[in-house]
Amino acid sequence: MKQLLLFFAFISFSAVAMSQSKYVGKEKVIDPFSYRITKTGTYQNAAVATAHPLASEVGVQVLKRGGNAFDAAIAVQFALAVVYPQAGNIGGGGFLMARTAAGKQVAIDYRETAPAKAYRDMYLDKDGKPVEGLSVNGHLASGVPGTVAGLAATAAYGRLPWKDLVDPAISLAQYGFAITKEEAANLNAIKQDLLKYNTMPTAFTKDRKWMEGDVLIQAELAETLKRIRDHGAKGFYEGKTARLLTEEMQRGGGIISAEDLKAYKAKHRKPVVFSYRGYEVISFPAPSSGGILLGQMLKMAEPFPLQSYGHNSAKAVHLLAEIERRAYADRAEYMGDPDFYKVPEKELLSAKYLTGRMKTFDSRKASVSKEMQHGNVYESDQTTHLSIADKAGNMVAVTTTLNTSYGSKVVVGGAGFFTNNEMDDLSIKPGVPNVYGAVGREANAIAPGKRMLSSMTPTLVLKNKKPFMVVGTPGGTTIPTSVLQSIVNVIDFRMLPREAIDAPKFHHQWLPDRIDVEKSFPKFVVSELEKKGHTVNQRGQIGRVEMILFEKRGLNTAADSRGDDSVAGY
Ligand code: DON
Repeated sequence: MKQLLLFFAFISFSAVAMSQSKYVGKEKVIDPFSYRITKTGTYQNAAVATAHPLASEVGVQVLKRGGNAFDAAIAVQFALAVVYPQAGNIGGGGFLMARTAAGKQVAIDYRETAPAKAYRDMYLDKDGKPVEGLSVNGHLASGVPGTVAGLAATAAYGRLPWKDLVDPAISLAQYGFAITKEEAANLNAIKQDLLKYNTMPTAFTKDRKWMEGDVLIQAELAETLKRIRDHGAKGFYEGKTARLLTEEMQRGGGIISAEDLKAYKAKHRKPVVFSYRGYEVISFPAPSSGGILLGQMLKMAEPFPLQSYGHNSAKAVHLLAEIERRAYADRAEYMGDPDFYKVPEKELLSAKYLTGRMKTFDSRKASVSKEMQHGNVYESDQTTHLSIADKAGNMVAVTTTLNTSYGSKVVVGGAGFFTNNEMDDLSIKPGVPNVYGAVGREANAIAPGKRMLSSMTPTLVLKNKKPFMVVGTPGGTTIPTSVLQSIVNVIDFRMLPREAIDAPKFHHQWLPDRIDVEKSFPKFVVSELEKKGHTVNQRGQIGRVEMILFEKRGLNTAADSRGDDSVAGY
């Protein structure tokens, strides 16, 4: 009987929620309680690929109503903050890499900043040793969030009213949505952390375990989103939301202040642009390492006849891993926030420098990271990705993050959103690896107001000056190497998006000195690599790539098979 009552409660509840989804126009196409994951599609007008089917659907509805790819990117990110709380966010930061239909390149940096009270040794004990977990979990791990400022800056390129872009997320938060199996498992996995790091009850724990199909309602987040809808970025950085965030920080020993929030600014950056086998690649510059790494790696690969080696052959993987090793050694030394440290982008990407870096390459034998340091530059320094393309020819790639899954695990009391743990992306001590094993030095040392070095690589590719590909992925330091493989899989190995994304991936990042491979990676290739002197480490999944390829027959769109990622379009 009780079950029956609950069932009816659910049905009537769904009806309320369904009527709320009218914002999408006359068609009621979004049913947050019953939806499907779609992995591939080819669309004539516009396409969206994101980490969650509801977010992709929100994006496509915005496009159908006359919004452009920028509008869709804003609505999708707000929706992801609700339906994909492990990485979608308003408490984190990201990068938008776009090209307008008229050919203008737009790179918006809304990376978090270190709070004004941050200082170089803040994560070290009195003996100078890193305090376990301090930069990863809890209040002190958070940088000043950038996302809402970034979305407000993005709105300058959109066409629809801001309100229309926030409303879908409000409905999803207020009336709830059915969670996926993967989300249920993830929320169950962090239950103890949620109880440990939160000062007030959150929407993310239950007495019993979460199950697929359970409805997640985030009432406090809905109210926060309404303040953002009504007051724009000020609805987040000032007023009640800012107060709730700073109060949360004070309760939990964090250091983000009202002044930090008020001072936060998204910035326009100049993208990294280079050619690869006749294609033009446009990617994100510092404070991401992504665009520079991708440029270094593709330029180092270009002189080699990669295609003739065969996809994922030992010869091809050895070459690319050696290239990755060299680029990542440079990352550790030379890359950081360009407002604090002069990143020698031009030199790192110069043909002369990169040819020099490959002089020590031996096709028969692995190099040794310890013996290979960064090059000498002479000078006068759980994330998610979305790919969107619209009818007019606007291309938008956004990678956004809280850093690790659910960020610091702290939900702002009364405001309902997770805060990031991006401070761990700064180098807490020279040579001490972050959660992704990446090391850094002066270029990425902690300083107040500084943006932490990222690996996020939202990327666009053009062919004959026309849109060719929108691509990107989460995955920490594996991001640039996953984007690299996605691009060479299409350009060199002639794969279509589905195949290009699903192919088993590998990754080398200089230190630790080894090649990581996915479980599905061919065993005989692993043995051949070991014979060349590589240490090969099998690990979990690498990346969740979302790719749109502009083909004559339409926008060939693929979402990664590795998660709940889903495409939509029309
Ligand atoms: O900015 C970065 O490079 C990292 N904070 C990204 C984190 C990430 O990709 C986690 N996802 N799996």
